[in-house]
Amino acid sequence: MLILKDLSKSFLIDQSESRIDVLNSLNLSIETGTTVALTGPSGSGKSTLLNLISGIEDVSSGSIIINDQMINRLSQNELCKFRNQNIGMIFQFFNLINDLTVIENISLPLLMRGINKKSIMKTVDNLIDSIGLRDRASYTTNLLSGGEAQRVAIARALVTKPSIILADEPTGNLDKKNTTNIIDILIQLCKENKSTLIMVTHDNDLLSKFDKTYTIESGKIL
Ligand SMILES: Nc1ncnc2c1ncn2[C@@H]1O[C@H](COP(=O)(O)OP(=O)(O)O)[C@@H](O)[C@H]1O
Ligand SMILES: [Mg+2]
Repeated sequence: MLILKDLSKSFLIDQSESRIDVLNSLNLSIETGTTVALTGPSGSGKSTLLNLISGIEDVSSGSIIINDQMINRLSQNELCKFRNQNIGMIFQFFNLINDLTVIENISLPLLMRGINKKSIMKTVDNLIDSIGLRDRASYTTNLLSGGEAQRVAIARALVTKPSIILADEPTGNLDKKNTTNIIDILIQLCKENKSTLIMVTHDNDLLSKFDKTYTIESGKIL
């Protein structure tokens, strides 16, 4: 279960004393395993909300509770560990390490956990089949198309079976065919792992694929 309680976030404007309020006492509860599409106008705070949930940004006030743990009370070290164990992230521009291969990119989160290479390979091998990139497995990721690169990023985010996947406009840069393919793979893998998915999108055609849709406006969930 993910609970956002009276969550507020404001940013200082440059070096001045004034702040802009982006999120304003936002409340939202999401049951584990639910797939959620998050929409809202540009600048409404969608990326900010994902950054708060992942702990990349600090909250201004309120709380974020993930599986009974209040993550905004964790130290930087605890937060890094929590993120590696509980959260997977997918971005619009993939954020892959382009001089590593497909296999190496997907393996990274498990290598960081110190898991032995043999069991890593078994998990990664299965995922490579799920994303349909068997014939690209030893390519460096700079050689991949956008759709292929995003499938690698999905596999990397899911390889640790995190309880929450955060995806910020993952199809924002892809054509329609790749978009459908990516969303179908992402939702299927999240359902298999019983991971909660929160995906930001502007594409209304995709909303029916999700269990729930929420819209942010004026700092709150509508
Ligand atoms: N680090 C930051 N410092 C100052 N303002 C920021 C920062 N990050 C985001 N903002 C502002 O917060 C608002 C929401 O941004 P964002 O969450 O990126 O919106 P969205 O993803 O919905 O388009 C915007 O007005 C943006 O300029
Ligand atoms: Mg954004």
